[in-house]
Amino acid sequence: MAKGRRYDIVLFGATGFTGRLTAEYLARNGGDTLRWALAGRSPDKLGEVRARLVDLNAGCRGIDLLQADVDDPASLQALAESARVVVTTVGPYIVHGEPLVAACAAAGTDYVDLTGEPEFVDRMWLKYHDTARTNGARIVHCCGFDSLPADLGCWFTMQQMPEDVPLRVQAFVRVGGTFSGGTLHSAVLALSRLGLSGKVKRARRAREGWPVDRRVGGLHHGLRYVREIGGWAVPAPVIDPQIVQRSAAALDRYGPDFRYGHYLQLKKASSVAQLLGGTAAVLIAAQFKPTRERLLKIRGPGDGPSEAQRAKGWFKVHFIAEGGGKTLRCEVAGGDPGYGETAKMLAESALSLAFDKLPRTAGCVTPVQAMGNALIERLQRRGIRFRVLE
Ligand SMILES: NC(=O)c1ccc[n+]([C@@H]2O[C@H](COP(=O)([O-])OP(=O)(O)OC[C@H]3O[C@@H](n4cnc5c(N)ncnc54)[C@H](OP(=O)(O)O)[C@@H]3O)[C@@H](O)[C@H]2O)c1
Repeated sequence: MAKGRRYDIVLFGATGFTGRLTAEYLARNGGDTLRWALAGRSPDKLGEVRARLVDLNAGCRGIDLLQADVDDPASLQALAESARVVVTTVGPYIVHGEPLVAACAAAGTDYVDLTGEPEFVDRMWLKYHDTARTNGARIVHCCGFDSLPADLGCWFTMQQMPEDVPLRVQAFVRVGGTFSGGTLHSAVLALSRLGLSGKVKRARRAREGWPVDRRVGGLHHGLRYVREIGGWAVPAPVIDPQIVQRSAAALDRYGPDFRYGHYLQLKKASSVAQLLGGTAAVLIAAQFKPTRERLLKIRGPGDGPSEAQRAKGWFKVHFIAEGGGKTLRCEVAGGDPGYGETAKMLAESALSLAFDKLPRTAGCVTPVQAMGNALIERLQRRGIRFRVLE
């Protein structure tokens, strides 16, 4: 970890929807001794964010504001060299993310983001993993709802299971909540680039290799009714299974033969039909510029669910693990998945990298590899529940 830096944490993108929530979380919970700064491209907007923070915590009056733009590499170099950990909510990451990863890898600065974009994660591994490893930087993607509940929840579940036996884990996700403009833009862009994403994934797999003395892979169930959960399981086209399998490839504790499946859980067949129809329509619309632009107008950048809408949000991820003669159910659950809890997860990831005693890692690593149980404990203290069900 970088020493002798002016700030423990710099939050880049502090003026966006999730960035503001993350700033508010740090103002409330970061502690009086935290040395942190807000960064973004607009000094006026940064000033507004700081004014709001002062209402929450008068100690925020002295927080520095750093001007930085993804199109200005010198500003990102200065930002990366000023901090022990940089947190970024500047997305879509495939458009805006790379220069900051490059700056942090070069400066040996720890980095966390909120991406759920597989192409971005794989590209960054291909281009910056070696530099980050050489310079001692931990580049940790997917520290929001994508993919902390799945990655940490599976790790939590694994640790209750017998060691050195083949294990299979299935995760069933239920959510109630809505999305921001930034999330909509990132998701639509990712859907329009599925072909490219597959190519980059294969290039990474060819270079990265995979364990030779253990097996790590996916469970490939199609749509089905699962009696144990009393509902339908729809294979979820999200990044979480890739992150979980990478954690399993990195750590022997996942056993000699580890299989993981990740599904959305729905109660009624009619909801499944609605979901599949809606997903197909969005997937098709994302491929063509005119329909893509119409989709993006649903919600603009900076816009997102109101406080009242967020207060009604919730998520539950139900894990069923089997192996070594044991079957176990665990659950990770919390409030508004996309924003309130995501801001908490992101901020606590940054605090964990800055202050916790963690395993020695460097390069592009998963949340479990970088922070594991220390982050589970932090999130539990802040109200996200990790528990064994039976
Ligand atoms: N995985 C998850 O669970 C999860 C949950 C929530 C969000 N996200 C992701 O987080 C990202 C942000 O979402 P959001 O809703 O907060 O988006 P948003 O409100 O549109 O915020 C985007 C931020 O990026 C900044 N930005 C844009 N271009 C920039 C540039 N050239 N230089 C510097 N800063 C620039 C914006 O600055 P200005 O204010 O100056 O425009 C703003 O601060 C998205 O990629 C979204 O998918 C992920």
